Amino acid sequence: MLLEIKNLYVSFNGMHGTTEALKNINLAIDQGEIVGIVGESGSGKSITSLAILGLLEKNAIIPQGEILYNGENLLKLKRKELQELRGKEIGMVFQEPMTALQPTMKIGKQLYHVIKKHRNLSKQETKKAVIQALKDVHIDNPELVADKYPFELSGGMRQRIVIALAMAAPPNLLIADEPTTALDVTIQYEIINLIKELNKKRGTSVLFISHDLGVISNTCERIMVMYAGEVVESGKTEKVLTHPRHPYTKSLLKALPDSAAPDEPLQAIDGEAPNLLQRPVGCAFSDRCSQVMDVCKRDHPKLLESGPGHHVSCWLEKVTV
Ligand SMILES: Nc1ncnc2c1ncn2[C@@H]1O[C@H](COP(=O)(O)OP(=O)(O)OP(=O)(O)O)[C@@H](O)[C@H]1O
Ligand SMILES: [Mg+2]
Repeated sequence: MLLEIKNLYVSFNGMHGTTEALKNINLAIDQGEIVGIVGESGSGKSITSLAILGLLEKNAIIPQGEILYNGENLLKLKRKELQELRGKEIGMVFQEPMTALQPTMKIGKQLYHVIKKHRNLSKQETKKAVIQALKDVHIDNPELVADKYPFELSGGMRQRIVIALAMAAPPNLLIADEPTTALDVTIQYEIINLIKELNKKRGTSVLFISHDLGVISNTCERIMVMYAGEVVESGKTEKVLTHPRHPYTKSLLKALPDSAAPDEPLQAIDGEAPNLLQRPVGCAFSDRCSQVMDVCKRDHPKLLESGPGHHVSCWLEKVTV
């Protein structure tokens, strides 16, 4: 297994107490696999990716858990070692491309620096690799684009450049956190196809994060549905989407206006996610669940296997199985 997250907990110390942002997260990504995380805003998707990258804010505490990369626990690495791993082994693409780009440096120069840093190439070879990196993300006129500043490019072009930078080392794992959210729908699909193509061609594993079930269903072989910092359901994408078992997954699917049109935006589900400063004793979704039972308010359900590789955390499983 390339990446294995085991029983990960993340909390934040703040003025009003401790926010339990992640609770008992388990996730595995094999070499060459695309795994998706889906969930509403605040469900802990970004915190999961930042924990892997060692980029959590200073007030974060990790009371329990392991993040194994090729068997090595990233939580035990020194800051410098983690820094080396980022970019070289693990590439990242975030929602807003400008945050990953140097505003005052030409595109070609930015790529040159990253390629020079990670690959043992001569000056001439590095220059060639810059052009190739731009071609790999389907940029026409790479020489022309290399000579531009980020602000001279469109959002979609910028995100392609960020992907080229993230893939430059090249990494074994790409973490893409809402990489298309800030883009137009048509551009979104070009970027998703690009990520899928790089995954196929180079065998790069991808952790793909989105609040949009349509985007996820199109991209990932396996998905993990998160709610209030916990995994409520996980399994093969096709299985989870055609036979969802958790009421939260079902309502996410129902909120899709037309599941045949995956580019439709996700609509909000009635009610609000619980305050993570004071987690409910029972199931975190119980307040919003249409099938809530007494036990749901009293006890927290366990994530159990409901079918091959299909895990669900819901008291209904106990009752109906
Ligand atoms: N620095 C922080 N201090 C305290 N709590 C935090 C901090 N960062 C995140 N949290 C908590 O963790 C929760 C999960 O945040 P996260 O950014 O992972 O959500 P998300 O699923 O990525 O949402 P979105 O779809 O909006 O990006 C937040 O709702 C918040 O309660
Ligand atoms: Mg996020």
